[in-house]
Amino acid sequence: MSDIEVFKRQAAEHALDHVQSNTRIGLGSGSTARHMLHGLAERLADGRLENVVGVPTSEATADLARQLGIPLTTLDDCPELACTLDGADEIDPQMNLIKGLGGALLREKIVAASAERFFVLVDSSKLVMQLGERTGVPIEVIPFAQTLCMQRLRDLGCQPKLRQNDDGTPFCTDEGNVILDCRFVKIADPDALNVTIMSIPGVVDHGLFLGMTTTAFIAGSTGITIMTHSK
Ligand code: 5RP
Repeated sequence: MSDIEVFKRQAAEHALDHVQSNTRIGLGSGSTARHMLHGLAERLADGRLENVVGVPTSEATADLARQLGIPLTTLDDCPELACTLDGADEIDPQMNLIKGLGGALLREKIVAASAERFFVLVDSSKLVMQLGERTGVPIEVIPFAQTLCMQRLRDLGCQPKLRQNDDGTPFCTDEGNVILDCRFVKIADPDALNVTIMSIPGVVDHGLFLGMTTTAFIAGSTGITIMTHSK
């Protein structure tokens, strides 16, 4: 396993230490979340955890959870969760995030918002001083509004790119939408950008997760750093 994968696994294990038996929890998406699913399955199998039921944030997470024997429920049956554990693409010193490089941002944001606590698990390469340093902001739009949204986003100073699969077809989210990846030169005011993006007709949501993180577990070569504030 590469160092980065070891760090992801360590972040996931530390976050899992904060999960309690007899709870309903949100299950994130992406490679760090996959480590978390394996760790959760092990804890359920060896009795360290009992009666933990998950709400998956993507079809891929649901598939892996089923393979690993993790019991699942839906947000309809269980709209209030104890916590959600998920990865991130960037995290700033205020624990604001960019998420969605895996394409699951919409369900991820909904599930995170349904949880009492939102645990973010990352390796230290995801740390940034300012959001947007490493990646663009994924913006999920309904296909009908794709061209209009691209035009409006261009007016904000970015060059939106329609996310594509390897074969060149448009990437389609679990909700049947497309994603526009938008690299901004500088995101000096993420809250203002959130309001501006959400005011564009056809935008469903975006990958800025602002003021949502309760605790971040950041694993790197110097060990684990835990950042926290109450929600
Ligand atoms: C998927 C996400 C992921 O949490 C994010 O992309 C981090 O992924 P990884 O753990 O593979 O680096 O937001 O939509």
